[in-house]
Amino acid sequence: MHVLHVASEVFPYSRSGGLGDVLAALPAQQARLGAGVSVLSPWYAALAGEPGEVWRGELPGIGPARVGELREGGVRFLFLGLPAFGRPGLYHPDDVERFCAFGRAVLPVLEALDLRPGVLHGHDWQAGLAVAHAHLAGWRTAFTIHNLQYQGRWTLPEARAWTGLPEWAFGPEGVEFHGDLNLMKAGLTFADAVTTVSPTYAREITTPEYGEGLDGLLVRLTLEGRLSGILNGLDQDRWNPATDPDTVPFRDPAGKGPNGERLCAEFGLDAAPILGVVSRLADQKGMDLLLLSLPGLVREWNVVVLGGGDPLLTAALTGWGHHPRVAFVPGMNEPLAHRIYAGADAFAMPSRFEPCGLSQMIALRYGTLPVVRATGGLVDTVPGDVGFLFGEASPQALTAACADARRALEDRAGWEARMTRGMELDFGWENPARHYLELYGRLSAGTPAAPS
Ligand code: GLC
Repeated sequence: MHVLHVASEVFPYSRSGGLGDVLAALPAQQARLGAGVSVLSPWYAALAGEPGEVWRGELPGIGPARVGELREGGVRFLFLGLPAFGRPGLYHPDDVERFCAFGRAVLPVLEALDLRPGVLHGHDWQAGLAVAHAHLAGWRTAFTIHNLQYQGRWTLPEARAWTGLPEWAFGPEGVEFHGDLNLMKAGLTFADAVTTVSPTYAREITTPEYGEGLDGLLVRLTLEGRLSGILNGLDQDRWNPATDPDTVPFRDPAGKGPNGERLCAEFGLDAAPILGVVSRLADQKGMDLLLLSLPGLVREWNVVVLGGGDPLLTAALTGWGHHPRVAFVPGMNEPLAHRIYAGADAFAMPSRFEPCGLSQMIALRYGTLPVVRATGGLVDTVPGDVGFLFGEASPQALTAACADARRALEDRAGWEARMTRGMELDFGWENPARHYLELYGRLSAGTPAAPS
């Protein structure tokens, strides 16, 4: 079996979030299980790595293109260079046009490389058009939703010509969505199988509350047996408290202490326990709920927050940074993230929705007990006898769950039992990688269910 993953980011070459992490770990694990695996992503000017050029040419309707290659851990990483990827950074306001060019170029480029995978597996809206073209060319396709909120929409009169799709594909049964082109919908409509990154999120997105306007289509996919949830894993080598060079390594709850002391010293905090947060500062992550909870939280906790994103949330947290029990570091800082996971007692994740979430798995591995909203992958990864789950997306519910955690911390033996249970959970990629390979196997055996 040969699978080609198509995605807009892949760690360590390009990354903005959890998507890049998945594209680093899943293909490598599939290769370890014996599958042939390639990953195709954009050759950004900002790419961290130097691929060797393996092809260069002119693509009809698209323009000049080139492909670079790197091989790592049994995986063939291909990077597609187009003029649109020549700017700094990963994402830009004209991404729908850029990823239309990307999606259109995928098949011609694979043909030029003489690469014909058994399954093309696209990830998130940036790969939606590649999935549509692969399906129309008779290939087997899978498509994974990492976050339904971002859909890649643009007004149709303008976007139609960017896609290279036949006229019939622009109806409401195709890629049209309220007068717009919708590339997420293109992936959902044309893939033989659609997955998302946790079983609970797979159910949630069939409801108006979580469906981002696509719940009707997602209900249909569920009834047709085309939508399922496969829980993400965690790169347990990159996130290993026993070997982590950014921390004082530890194997059990007793060894964690020095990390807390260091974190306190680093930010001049007092003896209260530490509630850690490492997050994109975004509405999805419920960071406004955290802000509104701070007045209550600082009575019982030191709160250490690392994260970047929304300017309003950044400004508000910067203001709170002057409080003796609050430390806020804007932006992303990988070593500090490790120190927070290792040094905090509890870890807050009040997400409004969470397709899977990786931070809570890291926290569990570092014996840092998650206080999470009961949604999506948080439900599927945080056991009730380890972490603290709450239902309502409100500052009151978050504050109450943190108070529960604070009370539980009074019983040190009980707390350490929770830590041990959390640290022993297995979030390896082997199971998820097997599930995807089984899915590809079923696709290769069966007849495609998507329209033609
Ligand atoms: C997105 C989701 C996150 C998920 C990640 C990887 O970033 O928001 O929940 O863990 O993708 O699938």
